Amino acid sequence: MQVEIGVIGGSGLYRMAELEQIEEVEVQTPFGPPSAPITLGTLQGVRVAFLPRHGLRHQFSPSAVPARANFWALKQLGVRRVISISAVGSMREEIAPLDLVVPDQIFDRTVRRARSFFEESGPVVHVALDEPFCPDLRRALLEAATRAGARVHPQGTYICIEGPQFSTKAESRIYRSWGVDVIGMTAMPEARLAREAELCFAILALVTDYDVWHVTEEPVNVATVIQNLQRNVQTAQDVLKELIPRLPRETSCSCGDALAQAIVTAPDAVST
Ligand code: ADE
Repeated sequence: MQVEIGVIGGSGLYRMAELEQIEEVEVQTPFGPPSAPITLGTLQGVRVAFLPRHGLRHQFSPSAVPARANFWALKQLGVRRVISISAVGSMREEIAPLDLVVPDQIFDRTVRRARSFFEESGPVVHVALDEPFCPDLRRALLEAATRAGARVHPQGTYICIEGPQFSTKAESRIYRSWGVDVIGMTAMPEARLAREAELCFAILALVTDYDVWHVTEEPVNVATVIQNLQRNVQTAQDVLKELIPRLPRETSCSCGDALAQAIVTAPDAVST
């Protein structure tokens, strides 16, 4: 059966308990192995590929996640849509810990991650990234989150920092002045690679903290992030249960054609 959808689990989401008919596959890619063996399973008749981003022992820091291998492996398994689950801090009062956000934009502040499948050699490829997420998948995610009874924010700009440290107060203040809504360490290069791989991509962001800008809340620390993630992981699973069985088989977005206009070749290039 065709694997329809990939789920990349973040911190706190290392398995999808609801999957049935499970098998684990080890996939090799030109970029090495993915973060972990990929779990294939069925959720209400839909075949799903699940991959824990940080590895099963949480051994990959955000900078070390083998993102190219992860997306290559999912593509190789036939996946056409990827949902990425990600813990984030809130950069706005009205986005509270335990809320969910379905971001519609990303600001990339990472500095040392391979960000393209086409970096070293091969064709020169410039995909469009003005809208970094699949509009149809975002809409479906939002509807699923609402049905699951979550408090969900329908849009937001995700600033992706390199980490692994959290931000300084000056950084947090400046990011807020730039108009961002949530902060995390993993959305990039995932969105770039999903587009290059011609996959539909959307993020379900689980808010765990108010970063370090808030005057009355404690500055973010790992204990708070983990505690709030544990409280939110069931909601994320509920959203996936609402989402996956209802996704139409066919897509009507343009994500699957992202490379059509993106490859630059010299006009007088000749093949030899
Ligand atoms: N992940 C969860 N909370 C975060 C924060 N405040 N900054 C960066 N990444 C995060």
